[in-house]
Amino acid sequence: MKHFFTLTIALFLVSPVFAAKMPMPSDMPKSYDAECASCHMAYPPGLLSEQSWQNVMEGLGKHFGTDASIDEKDKTEITIWLKKNAATKQKYRVVAPDNRITKTAWFIREHDEIKADVWKRASIKSPANCGVCHTSAAEGIFSEKNIKVPAK
Ligand code: HEC
Ligand code: HEC
Repeated sequence: MKHFFTLTIALFLVSPVFAAKMPMPSDMPKSYDAECASCHMAYPPGLLSEQSWQNVMEGLGKHFGTDASIDEKDKTEITIWLKKNAATKQKYRVVAPDNRITKTAWFIREHDEIKADVWKRASIKSPANCGVCHTSAAEGIFSEKNIKVPAK
């Protein structure tokens, strides 16, 4: 029995499966889909820390080279929901450089096997297009078995 527990804990600590799920919460407001999923996928809130979401939502007027401003009512609703569901695990809870998931240390580490020219492939274009490779990204599942990197 003692061995069983030790093994369970060991698996929990090393298994990537546990680290690769940030499920999209079932209470996603309609405004999030309407306002935050037209230019890119609706990022599951568990991919960024509370502070980073706050920063993203405060800077929508100058959003990665575009104007993504929205009305106050939607902004308040989305901000509260994003922060409530933000990353909790130590590893993902960092304040992201430039408010980018793709600039966090964990993201860079998890993707260090991907060569520079792969990111530039026509079907990929940007590391921010999670769903091109992670076939279940919209549901917040990033496990290895749900990855297919396009060949061009
Ligand atoms: C008008 C288009 C547009 C809208 C609307 C928009 N975004 Fe973006 N967003 C962008 C662009 C462009 C990027 C940069 C993408 C890239 O580098 O490939 C981006 C990047 C991001 C990133 C960082 C991705 C990374 O590199 O890790 C986050 C987080 C994000 N957006 C959140 C939001 C949220 C939240 C909303 C809704 C309030 C929103 N976006 C609405 C255009 C938009
Ligand atoms: C070019 C394809 C590609 C894109 C785009 C991409 N990833 Fe990945 N991702 C991978 C590959 C390949 C791995 C490494 C799988 C491995 O070796 O375990 C990975 C690993 C991960 C892991 C760790 C998985 C695990 O099992 O531990 C997470 C989490 C992750 N990616 C999230 C994201 C997020 C979030 C985005 C978008 C902001 C994204 N990825 C964009 C290909 C991609």
